[in-house]
Amino acid sequence: MTIAMAADHGGYELKNILLDYLAEKGHAIINLGTDTPDSVDYPDFAKACCDEVVGGRADFGILVCGTGVGISIAANKIDGIRCGLCPSKEIAALVKQHNNANVIALGGRFTSAEDAKDIVDYYMNAEFEGGRHQGRVDKIMALEK
Ligand code: RB5
Repeated sequence: MTIAMAADHGGYELKNILLDYLAEKGHAIINLGTDTPDSVDYPDFAKACCDEVVGGRADFGILVCGTGVGISIAANKIDGIRCGLCPSKEIAALVKQHNNANVIALGGRFTSAEDAKDIVDYYMNAEFEGGRHQGRVDKIMALEK
């Protein structure tokens, strides 16, 4: 798969751990930064990652900021994006199964490397269930109009 990844200074270390993990598995990574501890604004990085997803150049996106909250809020302002904040592997599976999330967000200051790898694996191994969830996702997307 092709995966777009971005983070702010609060999340770049975890983002890069996940980048290496996913690249070793053979996935293509579009790394939108940041890659240093210098302070940056997470909405800029949310947009860069989400543009790759909406534009069809990435299959999904991974965003990391300190909490995962700010960068997920920013991502969900972008038309076509359903970003799920994933504090656990169980929720990571559910954001795909129920919400058909095309971007996931993690908190770099609150998620261990091992938990983060599980979160990504659970999200990637899950499938959207459709059915009653399809109508709800359709209603979410209608809120953009
Ligand atoms: C940056 O210090 C921090 O505010 C950011 O990474 C994120 O946690 C915001 O939601």
